[in-house]
Amino acid sequence: MATTGGEAATATNKQVILRDYVIGFPTESDLIFNDTTVVLKVPAGSKTVLLKNIYLSCDPYMRIRMGKPDPATAALAQSYNPGEPIYAFGVSRVIDSGHPDYTKGDLIWGIVGWEEYSLITPNFSHFKIQHTDIPLSYYTGLLGMAGMTAYAGFHEICSPKKGEAVFVSAASGAVGQLVGQFAKIMGCYVVGSAGSNEKVDLLKNKFGFHDAFNYKEEKDLYGTLKRFFPEGIDIYFENVGGELLDAVLLNMKLHGRIAVCGMISQYNLEVQEGVHNLATVIYKRLRVQGFVVSDYFHKYLQYLDFVLPCIREGKITYVEDIVQGLENGPAALIGLFHGKNVGKQLIVVSPE
Ligand SMILES: NC(=O)c1ccc[n+]([C@@H]2O[C@H](COP(=O)([O-])OP(=O)(O)OC[C@H]3O[C@@H](n4cnc5c(N)ncnc54)[C@H](OP(=O)(O)O)[C@@H]3O)[C@@H](O)[C@H]2O)c1
Repeated sequence: MATTGGEAATATNKQVILRDYVIGFPTESDLIFNDTTVVLKVPAGSKTVLLKNIYLSCDPYMRIRMGKPDPATAALAQSYNPGEPIYAFGVSRVIDSGHPDYTKGDLIWGIVGWEEYSLITPNFSHFKIQHTDIPLSYYTGLLGMAGMTAYAGFHEICSPKKGEAVFVSAASGAVGQLVGQFAKIMGCYVVGSAGSNEKVDLLKNKFGFHDAFNYKEEKDLYGTLKRFFPEGIDIYFENVGGELLDAVLLNMKLHGRIAVCGMISQYNLEVQEGVHNLATVIYKRLRVQGFVVSDYFHKYLQYLDFVLPCIREGKITYVEDIVQGLENGPAALIGLFHGKNVGKQLIVVSPE
């Protein structure tokens, strides 16, 4: 609640704090709440921007930030500091600004704290929202980081061609649902895997994948992929890692491409699983390339030119899993690692 008295008004600012570095699967008790007071004005003379957060995004990479600092992951993401608010992508409204590019009332998407109000210094990860005919929540996913990931990963890394066979794992999630639809728009044959029959139904009947399967019900993933891709896979969009990757490697075509976007099955393991069929990369002349979406943020306007007409013409369907209230954020975030989300997981912090 905002109060005024004398000079600058203040408000209570609820925050989500990392209790301590996480080992293994995160639990709700790893994240605690704290109330602070925020001054509803930027410090005089600063180029900061004060935001009221509207939506916050739940993303798997946040688990990597919850772990203790690790040289292996440092190039992707720094660890959160225990005792401080965690941060992630969100959609926010400018309350006050000392920055010449932002004025009160502007809408932005980008990195903010998991809190009701954030004081930020804008950087390359903050984008002003120009197109408000599209639901604002879409800027946590389709028109934000997840959309850019699907676009850069598929179009830049996979070098797709019409008619190619594409396999997408975690296919009903934020990134996967878009990769599948971008592949269909390109004229590819696309199959997705997901962890429940409800999600498989969504893939086939809502997102228009040519086919889909529930990987949890398949006993022999190599045989399953052979069934869906008798001639082999041209492109694998990797979101999960683990045994599925091993089965994919054996089913790839000669000169196939694998965009390594994520390996969510590994993020909570203390010892990473091995990849057993890696030599296939040689035999089949595969191109396996990891990527990080922020390296492609300079292509955001190009992405909008591609995706906005697709949305407006109804060529893309988008499913969100929306949780109300910051207090329900930790459970929503942790749910990602148990497949609880159906579509893009996000939190409403303060309704518009
Ligand atoms: N490289 C980048 O810049 C970048 C950017 C964004 C995202 N990513 C990565 O892309 C992947 C997808 O992210 P997203 O935001 O779209 O998440 P998401 O798919 O919306 O949510 C995560 C999903 O992963 C699946 N999952 C969880 N644990 C699993 C396990 N042990 N084995 C197999 N599947 C599991 C679950 O779906 P099921 O029910 O289908 O199992 C869950 O719903 C993640 O690996 C993420 O780290 C990378």
